[in-house]
Amino acid sequence: MDSGVATDAGVTDAGAPITVLVQASLFWSDAGVVDDPTVVSFAKLMRLASHDDHGGRLLSDWFHRFSTTPHSERALPAQFIDEVARSQGADATRWDLSRLPFVITGIHNRIDLALLEAGGHCGEFRVSAASTDATLQPFHMLFLFRQPLEPDDTVNGRVTCEGTARRWARLSTLSGAALDAELRSTFAQRLTREHFLLIETVEQSLSPWEWRQWVKTPSTSGLPFVFENPPLFQQLDVERLNVAGPLRTDFLSWVTTNAALAATRQLPIADRFRPQSIRAASGVPRQVLSLTGLDAQVQTQFPQLRPQLELVGCAACHMTDADFVQTRADRTISPFYAKELDARARHLEKLARGDAPSAPFGPLQSMPVLPQ
Ligand code: HEC
Repeated sequence: MDSGVATDAGVTDAGAPITVLVQASLFWSDAGVVDDPTVVSFAKLMRLASHDDHGGRLLSDWFHRFSTTPHSERALPAQFIDEVARSQGADATRWDLSRLPFVITGIHNRIDLALLEAGGHCGEFRVSAASTDATLQPFHMLFLFRQPLEPDDTVNGRVTCEGTARRWARLSTLSGAALDAELRSTFAQRLTREHFLLIETVEQSLSPWEWRQWVKTPSTSGLPFVFENPPLFQQLDVERLNVAGPLRTDFLSWVTTNAALAATRQLPIADRFRPQSIRAASGVPRQVLSLTGLDAQVQTQFPQLRPQLELVGCAACHMTDADFVQTRADRTISPFYAKELDARARHLEKLARGDAPSAPFGPLQSMPVLPQ
């Protein structure tokens, strides 16, 4: 009999492989967890993002920044935060952030983003939040935290993330109070200032929809750091790249050189082709990347090149089987995200066995079809 053998990679005590359950190991949105401020809250996320364990001043600076960035100016977040100052006082360090109209919409385990190489990591842990304010609407935020490598994530000198994966997978063998207790302690370990990475936003406070990332940048404003927009991760600046000129010429030759990697979504998009924000309108066809003029042989050899280059970016992915938002304010999820979670469950099972390949950029599910 196998029962009683030491618990091994990705198997239960009895030796059977663990079937990962999304609701135990990958995504949580039940009110008992996400509405419990001892677990997570918008105020707690701002505390963790800030240097002063409060975050009021950082939030004020951040929301004002929406209206002053040269690449895109949006007034509503600034107006919203000015209203907070009027009702709670000018000193943002004294604001009660728990009174702000933001709800947590979900907690997301992104171990699928693991970087399986020396000096790598075990992906991210994310919390999404949405505004319930009548005016600042729709407005979604995503707080990203690093899942660092633990000692048992490297086996025989190879980074596999299997220790971390096993701990996540084992949650799928628990239920009820045991699962609840384990989740609370796991989340507490994950949500720390040390592991905070950055914030992402998708919002339509002004039409069209817009995506941005917000990274900590040193500041002379009296705060040690504020949030600024870096070039968006893996997002092509379609509007600029579609226009004939030196940038487009450079882009087409870069695609030609890197076509094999781009077609399998393994190509990091070079900084110079990425915008600091990207927009897409609801109800009108999106602007499609043009590869006209690309070497005909490359086009024939890699027919999926264009959709693959688009799918790794914010806008196309949030419009594929999703209506701009993946985890909605009412905590339901897009069809895209539901399929993604199934793919992530199978991927986590492989990680826990120590035999997962590195995931490509963009979707984990096989070949989602872009809207035209
Ligand atoms: C692979 C497709 C994909 C890409 C590319 C992508 N997202 Fe998302 N996004 C998701 C999914 C799925 C979620 C749900 C949480 C998760 O899985 O991390 C999400 C969640 C979010 C949320 C929380 C609100 C919501 O829609 O659920 C924000 C904000 C967000 N993404 C912004 C961005 C930004 C900014 C970029 C580009 C830098 C980006 N996303 C790129 C799929 C994608």
